Amino acid sequence: MSFLIVYASWSGNTQEVAEMIEETLVAENIAVTTFRIGGGVIPNPRDFDAMLLGSFTWEQGSTPDEVKDFVADVGYKPDNVYVFGTGDTQFGGDALFCHAAVKLARFYASPYEPLKIEQSPRGIQQEKVIEWSKGVIRNWKNLNE
Ligand SMILES: Cc1cc2nc3c(=O)[nH]c(=O)nc-3n(C[C@H](O)[C@H](O)[C@H](O)COP(=O)(O)O)c2cc1C
Repeated sequence: MSFLIVYASWSGNTQEVAEMIEETLVAENIAVTTFRIGGGVIPNPRDFDAMLLGSFTWEQGSTPDEVKDFVADVGYKPDNVYVFGTGDTQFGGDALFCHAAVKLARFYASPYEPLKIEQSPRGIQQEKVIEWSKGVIRNWKNLNE
């Protein structure tokens, strides 16, 4: 199994989540390629069994422009897209919390609930990231094996 992790991050929170997911997947014997949006030629999701897409949320629940550009550059909706996000409930409460991740999951008809992390995943939320990552593997196996 070979998974692609793609993420956008400005201040590092979404990057930390991406790194934790990568560690968890690698420990479960999955080959992982990680790409930070903005870092050169975009990978082709067709070359992987699944894509895990990570985004923070921007003004009033918006998806960052670089993530929208990535979605447009990919140009089609791959199957097996799993979405993770970071956000902050102080910007509009539960309704807008990690809204970009929620919208991306809907857009790709993701087969699994998006992961929502408040700011940095270090500490008590770390277990949530690990459980979600293992849940993604289980979901993928149920659908594809
Ligand atoms: C101007 C601004 C607007 C934001 N709006 C939202 C929002 O509507 N919903 C949300 O959940 N988080 C919002 N956030 C919080 C960020 O999504 C959060 O800090 C995120 O972890 C940043 O990710 P990064 O460290 O990977 O760049 C906002 C942050 C800033 C600075």
